[in-house]
Amino acid sequence: MKTSGGNDAAKRRAGESAAAAVDDGDVVGLGTGSTAAHAIRRLGERVDAGLDVRGVPTSFASRELALDCGIPLLDLDEAVGPDAPGIDVAIDGADQVAVGDDGDGPTAGALIKGGGAAHAREKLVDAAADRFLVVADPSKEAPVLDRSVPVEVLSAGRSVVAEAVRAADGEPTLRRAERKDGPVVTDNGNLVLDCAFGEIAAPSRLATTLSGTPGVVEHGLFVDLADEVHVGTDSGVRVLTR
Ligand code: A5P
Repeated sequence: MKTSGGNDAAKRRAGESAAAAVDDGDVVGLGTGSTAAHAIRRLGERVDAGLDVRGVPTSFASRELALDCGIPLLDLDEAVGPDAPGIDVAIDGADQVAVGDDGDGPTAGALIKGGGAAHAREKLVDAAADRFLVVADPSKEAPVLDRSVPVEVLSAGRSVVAEAVRAADGEPTLRRAERKDGPVVTDNGNLVLDCAFGEIAAPSRLATTLSGTPGVVEHGLFVDLADEVHVGTDSGVRVLTR
């Protein structure tokens, strides 16, 4: 999977910490990105050692890696439904994590995701899971979210959505492919606008605005979804809760 930079040893500690929280028999949402990849590899090792799990991938890339690691897979439609097992836990990375303080110590707030343009399926899987564990290195922590918010849009709707983003005081930029002329096309066949809003004081309000914009397939603000954030450090792992 592509890497977003950051400290790979810290990412590995975070990924392995979350993978250790998976129990025998679990259905596990498998996130996308370089930190989630460490969790997938660790789960693969646990499967080799006899762990019985089934994974639900969030992207082409996480499916490919999980297959390489020997993790049995389910489609989302096989995992969720009246006679389906459900998703016990999802493990996924983040581009930025808002870290607050409730007086007793740091707490995990809203996330920005979608650096790998996988946030639409990630949100489906992460929100469907009983528990959602985020894995990150310390470079992702911030007191206030201020990174660009990836917004997946229908190709025919990109100008309309871009205007709506400007009306919400954002600056949209069409994400360009690196080794192809033209734009990034998501696993779902759509485009991505990276939308800069500066400091996002009210993520929930912005999330509601973006979700209500015609042409938006999904945006990368994940509000009130993360149950735990496993932050890998130089020497161990800090676990933040909501
Ligand atoms: C994929 O679209 C993203 O949501 C990733 O989970 C996010 O970009 C984190 O990736 P890294 O773990 O590579 O930083």
